[in-house]
Amino acid sequence: MRIALVTGASRGIGAAIASNLTSLGCKVLMPSRAELDLASDQSVESYLANLNQPVDILINDAGINRVATFENIQNGDVKDILQINLLAPFRLTQFLVPQMKVRNYGRIVNISSMWSVVSRGGRTSYSMSKSAINAMTRSLAVELAPFNVLINAVAPGYVMTDLTLQNNSPIEIEKISQSIPIQRLAEPQEIASVVAFLCSEQNTYLTGQTIVVDGGYTCL
Ligand SMILES: NC(=O)c1ccc[n+]([C@@H]2O[C@H](COP(=O)([O-])OP(=O)(O)OC[C@H]3O[C@@H](n4cnc5c(N)ncnc54)[C@H](OP(=O)(O)O)[C@@H]3O)[C@@H](O)[C@H]2O)c1
Repeated sequence: MRIALVTGASRGIGAAIASNLTSLGCKVLMPSRAELDLASDQSVESYLANLNQPVDILINDAGINRVATFENIQNGDVKDILQINLLAPFRLTQFLVPQMKVRNYGRIVNISSMWSVVSRGGRTSYSMSKSAINAMTRSLAVELAPFNVLINAVAPGYVMTDLTLQNNSPIEIEKISQSIPIQRLAEPQEIASVVAFLCSEQNTYLTGQTIVVDGGYTCL
């Protein structure tokens, strides 16, 4: 049985990913924020120190977005975004990769965003964090491929979750729906099924990519 670790599994996209992996027969570790707070280096190190089982599949899903125009970005906010969206996933990956290499098996999926490849006002800190995780994905894929450790990023467009509702009013959401070629936001499950393929045994050759799942939004 494969063991998966999914961050951000309490709700939204992470919950859908965890549920999919469970249905596919994986044992899924879903640490709560109390067990693993990505904002705190101390919490990350203590979680890892107490992790007494190997992990075959790592899903770096948890993330935050605090929207602000460039001049109004607070120093604390940009640091929090980079810590939670980039540095903590970096550390989890760094800790788990050596064991994956030894076992000659690993699947890692980083949840990025379409704002890593295109832009929208107020997203500078968030886009920085997500573009950087794409870069980490690409670089690491080269190092890990000889060990059958495959790493990809999935970059969702607009998904119906708390994060989207927090950063967009109902009127904005209606407008956004009309601007997406598929004419609606994604459901978390539609992102989770792409993730499930990437970290399944069926994926034997796809690595280092950022797969944009956005209903065609970035094609316009
Ligand atoms: N929704 C979208 O439209 C969209 C689009 C593109 C990319 N994404 C990306 O997809 C991922 C999931 O987004 P979502 O929309 O599902 O988010 P969400 O509904 O807001 O859920 C966020 C998840 O991250 C966890 N989390 C936040 N801060 C954390 C911390 N300091 N330590 C540990 N866990 C923390 C939350 O845990 P708690 O329950 O404890 O708060 C929750 O499980 C994120 O990386 C996001 O950037 C989302």
